[in-house]
Amino acid sequence: MSRPLSLKVAAIEQETDDAVTIHLRQPLLRRIRYEPGQYLTLEFDVEGGKGCRAYSISSTPGLDRALAITVKRVAGGQVSNRLVGQLAAGDRVRALGAQGRFTFAPRPGQGRHIVLFAAGSGISPIFSILRSALHFEADARVTLIYGNRHAGAVIFGDKLEALQRSFAGRLQVLHVFSQPQQPCRYSGRLSRERVVELLGALPDLQLARCEFYTCGPAAMMDEVTAALEGLGVGREAIHQECFTPRQTSGSGEVRAARRVSLLLHGQEHQFVVGAGQSILDAALENGLQPPFSCRSGFCTACVCTRLAGEVGMGHEHGLSAAELERGQALMCVGFPLSDDVRLKID
Ligand SMILES: Cc1cc2nc3c(=O)[nH]c(=O)nc-3n(C[C@H](O)[C@H](O)[C@H](O)COP(=O)(O)OP(=O)(O)OC[C@H]3O[C@@H](n4cnc5c(N)ncnc54)[C@H](O)[C@@H]3O)c2cc1C
Ligand code: FES
Repeated sequence: MSRPLSLKVAAIEQETDDAVTIHLRQPLLRRIRYEPGQYLTLEFDVEGGKGCRAYSISSTPGLDRALAITVKRVAGGQVSNRLVGQLAAGDRVRALGAQGRFTFAPRPGQGRHIVLFAAGSGISPIFSILRSALHFEADARVTLIYGNRHAGAVIFGDKLEALQRSFAGRLQVLHVFSQPQQPCRYSGRLSRERVVELLGALPDLQLARCEFYTCGPAAMMDEVTAALEGLGVGREAIHQECFTPRQTSGSGEVRAARRVSLLLHGQEHQFVVGAGQSILDAALENGLQPPFSCRSGFCTACVCTRLAGEVGMGHEHGLSAAELERGQALMCVGFPLSDDVRLKID
């Protein structure tokens, strides 16, 4: 992973009672290049050492000069509460470069329908994608289906309204409220049935022309994915970013407790990974502070290089075949398959 950059906070914008957008000045000499949908990993001093958290970039490349992240408080959360409650303009944060494969590339001339699903702070990368599609893919139609508890929890509410006015006929936003405080058009959770119903009500929906992007809690994304698959949408047209840890399904290999050696910041550490435990969980249990974020195998923040031994990783994870070939592994979904596993974090 690259050396962290120190980024200055240019401004903080209150979005809702518990969410802010943090605008970060781009460094002059090492500008952070990013694609719509990617995230920054921020590094903090947290209880017990160094902690990393991923925050999706809510600004849009080609449109915004500053980088922005949008953070919502998590009850009892160490970092989100610090970012929402304590950070001020002029402060600095440490960030690793932009990462992630949940990306959108404008492809004008194809008459696509970009259908976006977000819940809560899941709007951050979706907002970047939405603006990119509207500005840089002139023939794309965009639909956003956005779930929140109630109208007061909607992040970017005014900005979405302004975009609907500027891009009338191309952008449609449907709000779904699980605990509405006033009468509203759609209430309840973004369940499988609700997703099918909402899509069915979209005028002239041609599934073959649609590209789907979904971001939010794992449970909501599972419902959206199940609905889309039920409608016959192929996996290649469904893009997902998950903010919360997922239960991993396991890969079927027999897992036994094994000793692992981890080279972290130039120091070698040895610890036992219990049967059924991930390498990341065992490292944290042993007081180490390796980088991690999603704990689900998607964000790749916990990537390491296998110097020796065999590591199993289940079937669903964010590494490409080429990265696996180069010996990379993800600690959060990885488990040792031999007694000589030696890993290095770059
Ligand atoms: C790829 C990626 C992109 C992300 N982008 C954003 C973003 O744009 N905006 C944003 O606000 N957050 C985002 N997150 C979530 C963020 O990284 C942190 O997990 C979140 O801010 C909580 O951190 P914390 O230190 O406050 O909580 P912790 O101290 O780490 O956790 C406190 C408790 O809350 C639970 N918890 C952790 N994260 C969440 C969550 N997201 N929702 C509900 N419960 C949780 C934990 O299990 C724990 O019980 C993203 C996560 C990933 C993996
Ligand atoms: S922590 Fe996200 S892939 Fe491991």
